[in-house]
Amino acid sequence: MRRTTVTAVPQDQVAPVHRRLFGSFVEHMGRCVYGGIYEPGHPTADADGFRGDVAALVRELGVTTVRYPGGNFVSGYRWDDGVGPREQRPVRRDLAWHSIETNQVGLDEFAGWARDNDLELMLAVNLGTRGVLEALDLLEYTNGEPGTTLADQRVAHGSPRPHDVRIWCLGNEMDGPWQIGHLSAHDYGTLAARTAAAMKRADSALELVACGSSNAQMPTFGAWERTVLEQAWDHVDLISLHAYYEQTGDDLASFLASGRDMDHFIDTVVATVDHVGRGSAHQVHLSFDEWNVWRQTAFNDAEQAAIAAEPGTPRPWPAAPHLLEEDYRAADAVLVGSLLITLLRHADRVHAASLAQLVNVIAPIRTEPGGPAWRQSTFHPFALTARLARGVVLRTRTDSPTTPTTRFGEVSAVDAVITWDEEPGTATVLLVNRGTQHPATVDVDLSALGTTRVLESHLLHEDDVEATNSAARPDRVSPHALTVHPLPDGVLRVELPPVSWAAVAVGR
Ligand code: AHR
Repeated sequence: MRRTTVTAVPQDQVAPVHRRLFGSFVEHMGRCVYGGIYEPGHPTADADGFRGDVAALVRELGVTTVRYPGGNFVSGYRWDDGVGPREQRPVRRDLAWHSIETNQVGLDEFAGWARDNDLELMLAVNLGTRGVLEALDLLEYTNGEPGTTLADQRVAHGSPRPHDVRIWCLGNEMDGPWQIGHLSAHDYGTLAARTAAAMKRADSALELVACGSSNAQMPTFGAWERTVLEQAWDHVDLISLHAYYEQTGDDLASFLASGRDMDHFIDTVVATVDHVGRGSAHQVHLSFDEWNVWRQTAFNDAEQAAIAAEPGTPRPWPAAPHLLEEDYRAADAVLVGSLLITLLRHADRVHAASLAQLVNVIAPIRTEPGGPAWRQSTFHPFALTARLARGVVLRTRTDSPTTPTTRFGEVSAVDAVITWDEEPGTATVLLVNRGTQHPATVDVDLSALGTTRVLESHLLHEDDVEATNSAARPDRVSPHALTVHPLPDGVLRVELPPVSWAAVAVGR
């Protein structure tokens, strides 16, 4: 019998469940904005052109913050193009995604949409093709009290109150050679420090995110973080991490164990932060502000082929093209659930995270023009975790049999985390069985919490791990009821099939 025990230790608390861990990301890319959240003429569109059916799904998803407007897009973006009368806004080429940007959605519309949907806006400034002055102008336009030229412009454009954006990204993936205006670590660190210092002169309570590495495989990973933080330590509050996971060939086992990579990535950045910050009273936290499943290799290969075809073959410049519209499988949803367990486990250092992205572009929500919006498989673990994980994260002890992987060797088949909300006395147990062959019998010992009354329980599992949702079958992959067996002494037993994720909420 392959038996796992998961034990809650209430005295050993990791950190509060930061609501910003359930953030997302809207980039002006593909059909995330145009044809995603925004589609004037859609039967559910409001007076501003935002789709009501998409907004309802965003609220159901439980997203807290939303990072905007990019991504790679931000490095060529002029925020001032996107404000004022729509008919006067310029149309530009977006060099990041080889698309046309019509600027029909900009800061004021997006901030209004975020406010209507109870989302905290996390804005990125352009440090690729712009610098300190434009960042300050954007800050004044966004947050300024009426009485200065830029704040008054915002008022004249129909936003009388400041948008009051508290958290800001200082550029995006500036370590990547693909980034427009890409910089060395030293040059970026200097620019980030100068920009941050200036922004904090306007408002010392801003929370500013410096760019970390674009992924842990970057040749400069580690050295980049150290150099940037050495330059900018006193002025920034968070450093970013980005990671996208994909299955290589038929190696499902390694793919499902990607949480090991995320764990290691976080631990390495934490070590670098602690190294640079030794002796400092100031603390820098982690913002995992892009993470998801993305079959990136296929995308990069296609991009390279398109670029190689030039100059003989002119590439068209489409507006809102179909980009990165991944169909997520049941197995991808299990990994997304697993990565949420990893992020929660690190809540002492990871204070913000953004599932990238929100609609259509590598997203939990998909739309058809003029047609329906639906939940992808990955929607479900995110929505359940965002709704149920409350209070504090408990240090969770998991004793599990191992499962073999090519990439990580033997890893524990079951991973778990428990959150605890002392008042009203509810706990949530999140579990994943990363094993591809064997079911797992899991005994969850909640005796120390005195809570074993099951409030709700959900299992995400499909015998066909490749199953996906679609407009025609929007609920093909969705959670099932999970049977929970109470054992004596405050122990709950669940059976997890291979490749499955589960959430169990209990109360007194
Ligand atoms: O989310 C898609 C892209 O991935 C973002 O624009 C960029 O920051 C990352 O490389």
